[in-house]
Amino acid sequence: MVNVGILGATGMVGQRFIQLLAEHPKFEITALTASKRSAGKRYEDAVTWHLDTKIPDVVKDTLVVDTDPNEVKDVDIVFSALPSDTAALVEPKFAQSCIVASNASAMRMEPDVPLVIPEVNPEHLDLIEIQQKNRGWDGFIVTNPNCSTIALTITLKPLYDQFNIKRVYVSTMQAVSGAGYNGVPSMAIVDNLVPFIGEEEDKMESETLQLLGDIDEGVVTPASFGVSASCHRVSVLDGHTEAVFIEFEDKFEVDDVKKSFSKFQGLPQKLGLFSAPQKPIVIREEDDRPQPRMDRNEDKGMAVVVGRVRKDPVFDKNLKYILVGHNTIRGAAGASILNAELINEIM
Ligand SMILES: NC(=O)c1ccc[n+]([C@@H]2O[C@H](COP(=O)([O-])OP(=O)(O)OC[C@H]3O[C@@H](n4cnc5c(N)ncnc54)[C@H](OP(=O)(O)O)[C@@H]3O)[C@@H](O)[C@H]2O)c1
Repeated sequence: MVNVGILGATGMVGQRFIQLLAEHPKFEITALTASKRSAGKRYEDAVTWHLDTKIPDVVKDTLVVDTDPNEVKDVDIVFSALPSDTAALVEPKFAQSCIVASNASAMRMEPDVPLVIPEVNPEHLDLIEIQQKNRGWDGFIVTNPNCSTIALTITLKPLYDQFNIKRVYVSTMQAVSGAGYNGVPSMAIVDNLVPFIGEEEDKMESETLQLLGDIDEGVVTPASFGVSASCHRVSVLDGHTEAVFIEFEDKFEVDDVKKSFSKFQGLPQKLGLFSAPQKPIVIREEDDRPQPRMDRNEDKGMAVVVGRVRKDPVFDKNLKYILVGHNTIRGAAGASILNAELINEIM
């Protein structure tokens, strides 16, 4: 078994890590960290548990420690669910001696830190060797993109490989769990929609192009089509919905787009990784799907569900579709775990 720790184990994403890792066949949770407020408490006493499964027995009595490498012994991998400012300070310290699989945005756009979705750009893991050489670390940091970017980019990858994309516009309807438990006050979101999520649009625009970029001699050149995002918070607990509009250079057939989505597979599917969905993209044909409550848990929350795939009646080189992705599973904890499974398998 591989010993793993969870940094920020009491938060929204930290709890998902615990839920997913408690049943993992290769990873064993041996350390949990949080802020000084929680350090020294049993996990069950430190956490306000929000998930609809029980706190796994294996972690109930585990003592939560401060997020400091000196407090976390004998781990091979740490999964980071820390706020970005804390991650910027502590992830490099952990990376001196172990693998850090991070959800935080702090290190994502560093030129020697791989930003990876295993089905999309596993070759970017080549940056690890350069990172270790640059920084003199025995471990390293690998990051996954933010939650809305992951779902979008999984659906763009097969289209990017087959068609000439000119521009992508995306309008998101994002769940409240994406902001963490204390993120959005109920008075702000019940009976309401908030048409702004700090830094989210910039992240979607830059991370998408980075993920689809080519790597050559240790340098990633981002893809060069235009991406424009408008991000909005809605009164849904889990599951981000996105309305995607793609302008191609050439005319296309909707059937070819659907075929491209449904046959799409990546390295995790070929290797049969434990957390890999059978089909990364699942298509629904009903007019009123996908919906977050009904579709977010598709294939254990690791598949992106796409529907209303159609040609724009006004602009004949434009495609429109709706997607739903589970923000704390495929968009966060599940994404980091899949990165770690891939690294564990191929390195
Ligand atoms: N939620 C999502 O859908 C999502 C998706 C993708 C990426 N992310 C990213 O994942 C990270 C975690 O998000 P979240 O939604 O889980 O946040 P959260 O619910 O606010 O949880 C934050 C966690 O970090 C700990 N923490 C806070 N300040 C700390 C400090 N100074 N030192 C050490 N630990 C500290 C907290 O411990 P205490 O309980 O002791 O305060 C808690 O365990 C963020 O970087 C976020 O941007 C989130």
